[in-house]
This record gives sequence, C-alpha cells and structure tokens, in this order.
Amino acid sequence: MPPDLPVGIHDLSFATSSLVLTHTELSKHTGANVAKYHTGIGQKAMSVPAADEDIVTMAADAAAPVITRHGTGRIRTLLFATETSIDQSKAAGVYLHSLLRLPSAIRVVELKQACYSGTAALQFAAALVARNPEEQVLVLASDIASYDLDSPGEATQGAAAVAMLVSAKPALVELCPATGLHTDDIADFWRPNYRSTAVVDGKKSAAAYLAAVDGAWRDYQARGGLPLEQLRTVCYHQPFTRMAFKAHQQLTNAAGIKSSNKAIESTIAPTTRYNETIGNSYTASLYLALAAVLDGNDTLGEETIGFFSYGSGSVAEFFAGRVVPGYGDRLRTRAHRETIARRRPIDYAAYLKLREHPLPHDGGMHLIPRQTQGNFRLCGISNHQRLYEVVGPLSA
Ligand code: HMG
Repeated sequence: MPPDLPVGIHDLSFATSSLVLTHTELSKHTGANVAKYHTGIGQKAMSVPAADEDIVTMAADAAAPVITRHGTGRIRTLLFATETSIDQSKAAGVYLHSLLRLPSAIRVVELKQACYSGTAALQFAAALVARNPEEQVLVLASDIASYDLDSPGEATQGAAAVAMLVSAKPALVELCPATGLHTDDIADFWRPNYRSTAVVDGKKSAAAYLAAVDGAWRDYQARGGLPLEQLRTVCYHQPFTRMAFKAHQQLTNAAGIKSSNKAIESTIAPTTRYNETIGNSYTASLYLALAAVLDGNDTLGEETIGFFSYGSGSVAEFFAGRVVPGYGDRLRTRAHRETIARRRPIDYAAYLKLREHPLPHDGGMHLIPRQTQGNFRLCGISNHQRLYEVVGPLSA
C-alpha cells in the first residue's frame, strides 16, 4: 500500500427517533425559565424514541441509505458503538446485519466507552482499511440518552444514530494520522448494568470534560498535531451544545490564543445545528456535529476540521480531518433535515407514559404497536429476545 493513501469517512448518514419533546414543553413541567435551556445549555428540543424504536432500529435507518448507495461488496467489518446496549452478550450489530441483509462473510462487534466509543470505532476502522485498502468498514454509533426524571440531566436527553462508511480514498473527510489521547479513571457519569438511566455528577462531568480537552490537546501537540490556527472549526462531543462553546474557550486558552466570546461563538455555530434539536446522542453526537458542518456549507474542500471526542469515565481523543474537494455532491443534507423535521411533537404526559412503560422482563411474548416513522421497528419481545421487522419502502 502506498504510505500516503488517504483513509477516512466515505459516506455519512444519520437518523433520529420519531418523537420530539421541546424544551418549551419540558419547562412547563420543570418550572425552569426556558432561557436556561435555550441559552444556558443551548438546547431547543430532544428526540424521544417511540416504543418500537431502539438503537438497532435507528442504526438500521441510518445505515440503509449507505448500503443502497455503495452496496455491501467491500464491507468486511461492522463496528457498532453504543452505551445503550440491548444485550450483555450479543452485539447489536448482529441484529443490524440481518435487518440490512448483509453477507455472512463480515465480522461484527460492539464497542463501549461511554460517548467515546464511536471515535474508537472510527480509528479502528481506519487501521483496518489502512491494512487492506480494498476493504471498507461500516461504523455505527447509536444511542439513547436517558437520565432520571426531574434530574438536571433530563434536559440533555436525546437519541440518534450515525452510520459512517470508512474507506481508502474517501469522498468526505480524510483522517489525519496525528491523534491526542487522554484517559483518566473518574466517576463523573456511569450506568451500572442494573440501571436504565445514567448516574451522573453533572458539574464534575463538565470539569472532567474540560480537563480532558487540555490533556488530549497536549498529547496531540506533542505528537505533531496541527496548530489550532489551521483548523477551520472544531467539532466537539456535545452533551448539550453550550458545552462546545466552553470546550472551545478551554482549547483556545490551552493553545495560547486570545479569542473573544463572539469569535468562539462563530467558530462553533456551524457544528451545533443538529445537536441543539436532537439532544445528547452520546456516541453519535460528535458525528452529528460533523454532519452539521458539512451539510451547512459545501465550500469547505481542503479545509481541516478538528474533532474532540469525550466519553465519561473517561477517555478522550483529539484528531483532525481534511474535507475532500467535491464532498458537496455526496452529502445527504435533505434526508438529514427530513429525519429531524418529520418527528412528531409530544407533550410531557406522553413522554412520561413512554418512560413509565419499559420493555417487559418476564420472558413472555409481547407485541409492540407500530409508532415509528422509520423503515425498521422493534415489533415485540419474546423469550427475552427482541424481534425486529422491516417496514415501509425497504420491506420490498
Ligand atoms: P443544572 O445544574 O440544572 O444547570 O444542569 P445550571 O444551573 O448549571 O445551569 C446551566 C447553565 O444555564 C448555566 O450556565 C446557568 O448560568 C445558565 P453556565 O454557568 O454553565 O455557563 N442559566 C441560564 N441562562 C440563561 N437564562 C436563564 C438561565 N438559568 C440558568 N434563565 C448540568 C446542568 C450540566 C449539570 C446538567 O445538564 C447535567 O447533569 N447534564 C448531564 C451531564 C452532562 O451533560 N455533562 C457534560 C460533560 S460529560 C459528557 O459530555 C459525557 C456524557 O455525554 C456522557 C458520556 O460520555 O457517555 C454526559
């Protein structure tokens, strides 16, 4: 293989859930001034999964257009990143493999490290492709963020899945080889196996995130990373979009650059459009920021974008990617905007009802009525096994 053969993101598609709860509606219940949500944390709405949606159905909706466009012939690996795992043993990607009718000669595995594992999947995929540039890797990052009712984290919930096809000579973004890493064993956010909602110390988690910005940036610079001045913008993991502003303040300080709040706002603004209305989608969040940048501007060819990935617990990585000229022809801007626009607004009572009816654990047969607007749905559970079906146009 030529040493400089570029490897990176060849295609990117995302999907979100079918329902949406606005922060205006949430504030009626919590009594908080809605400005706290809109301005203080930078969130307008949160995607809420319907009863027949989960990480598999969202991931299938994200991946199906990628498979339709590129086929499956070169895909040898499917990496599924999530912290909303549906099984302690079987990888969620195996269900996806069958829903998308992928060939059997594919390795499928699930990865976990809070919100960071989507980036781990991307980097592992790049390494596999560098070893054999004929192969492609399908990376999925799919999550549903869920916090206790009436907790401070509740306003930062969300749900989405991103599918990325990683290949040699990519059409969207070439990954630059230098990366900066930072790991620190810290109890800022975690979810024991017996809980469906995260345990979180919100303030500690924000401080840990900012410390990780410093740590990953230092390592990135020590390993020959680009100076900050050469990055057009930085896509951050966005648990809430205001966090990206704080992170960029931290980064400019760490890089020794003086920058006004206005300049920081305008650098970050192109990255937040999707996350401010979808909410935290954990592993997918960083790549929704990338989708927002690309979909929002088709004149970025040759520009370099920085990425900061953070997963509580914690592991972080700073890296960069060069936007490939001509990428504008390969975007899915319309489909992305549609997946957001078609969500059905629900009121707080409907949201509460969904929260109060988790999937039964009794091993019996339970059918789930159709609610989703997506092409794949969780139609039931039987003998402790999730049952999926293809609906809509793709069922043919
Ligand atoms: P809180 O404590 O209720 O909020 O929840 P607050 O009182 O800190 O207010 C938030 C901001 O709104 C503040 O601004 C207020 O001043 C402002 P700041 O001081 O931060 O700049 N504010 C207003 N602004 C305008 N008008 C108003 C108004 N009122 C207040 N009227 C908290 C905040 C982050 C704690 C909560 O959302 C939370 O617990 N979130 C979950 C944890 C989280 O998102 N942590 C982020 C870093 S960790 C991470 O990113 C990893 C994660 O994604 C998980 C993973 O890796 O898997 C979470």
